[in-house]
Amino acid sequence: MGRRAAIVGAGHTRFGALEAGPRELLRTASELAFASVDRGFDRRAVEEVVLATLGFGGWQIGNVSAVLAEESGLAGTPTIRVENACASGGFALRAAVHAIESGACDLALVAGLEKMTDVASARRRYWLGVSGDTEWERSAGLTFAGVYGLIASRYLADHPGAAEALVAVAVKNHANGARNPNAHFQKIVDAETVRQAPRVADPLGLYDCCPVSDGAAALVVARAEHARRYTDSPVYIDGVGAGSDRLAVQERPELTRFAATRRAADEALRSAHVERAAIDFLEVHDCFTIAELLAIEDLGFAGPGEAVPLTLEGATGPSGRLPVNPDGGLKAKGHPIGATGVSQAYEAFLQLRGAAGPRQVPGAEQAMLHNVGGAGATAAVTILSSG
Ligand code: COA
Repeated sequence: MGRRAAIVGAGHTRFGALEAGPRELLRTASELAFASVDRGFDRRAVEEVVLATLGFGGWQIGNVSAVLAEESGLAGTPTIRVENACASGGFALRAAVHAIESGACDLALVAGLEKMTDVASARRRYWLGVSGDTEWERSAGLTFAGVYGLIASRYLADHPGAAEALVAVAVKNHANGARNPNAHFQKIVDAETVRQAPRVADPLGLYDCCPVSDGAAALVVARAEHARRYTDSPVYIDGVGAGSDRLAVQERPELTRFAATRRAADEALRSAHVERAAIDFLEVHDCFTIAELLAIEDLGFAGPGEAVPLTLEGATGPSGRLPVNPDGGLKAKGHPIGATGVSQAYEAFLQLRGAAGPRQVPGAEQAMLHNVGGAGATAAVTILSSG
């Protein structure tokens, strides 16, 4: 098994509608990440600083990575921003892994950030929309919920019983979020509440959608050979993979399969020399409940339509044979765009060290993370292990 790099520290703010502004969120997440490194840590050894953010609302859309360096006490250190819409975090982590593998640096800080709730709703729709196809889909009035609503309609028509699987995804992820003190929503919902909720983009209702959240997360990533200088329990990044697709869903041969995810998963597994059977849990990009079903299938854990019975029989629950989104997922934990992929790695850092408290996946040793940009135009997959 390859050990490409290792996470030796991780920090996370609360996700939700927060008072804190972007600078404070970055400062808090990076200080928590530095403080979590067990020993021998001098932040001046960080050689590369990577920030994932969409720049929601136009907030410092230009040179914002300098703000992360400044707020983490690393002004002077080289810094870059990665923007691949909702997949920015996964791609930022991949960029840091590549920098370490290439020998360009030994230690990197990776952070993800979004401040979304201070933007008025019309502007919010605009800033969510810029990550999709603006020539055809948005000009026809489609929001992201609208695009995923179309995808869900197709999936429901093809796979009888799928409507109840969407309900089950919402109920499960809310229950998982209720065990995560950083989650936007920490409340359990029952199936009838999900079914009766107002429609957002039919067939998707309120509980099928991720919320609009503020938040940040940060990781200290080291050369794998150096990891034990910092901690006795590093979390190794064994494989990374990525892919892309046509931006507009209308240009693709099928609505309900994401080629970018399939390519990213295959590459990550190949580079980690790992079989799917070895994966203990998944963190997938469930921006809408339908996206969790598609992810399970495109990542290769079920064939087309088979995520429905898998979900309905409870296999993806916290004590099922393939737990999915033990932290609540985007659905309940929240989805501050740039922070999401980094937050998934924060969850793996806790789970693979056996430190996830009441939401611990028993015996978790290997995890797969899946982060999607837009409606599948970009995807990053990361495979991690406890070593
Ligand atoms: N799930 C569950 N409850 C939600 C929710 C969600 N996604 N979004 C909002 N709520 C709750 C709020 O907590 C609030 O509850 P309260 O009345 O008990 O306080 C209530 O619903 C109304 O909240 P509000 O913020 O006014 O909702 P809204 O109608 O403005 O927005 C959505 C709801 C679903 C449209 C919005 O969350 C959304 O746009 N989500 C998708 C974001 C997105 O597209 N991200 C990119 C993905 S690719």
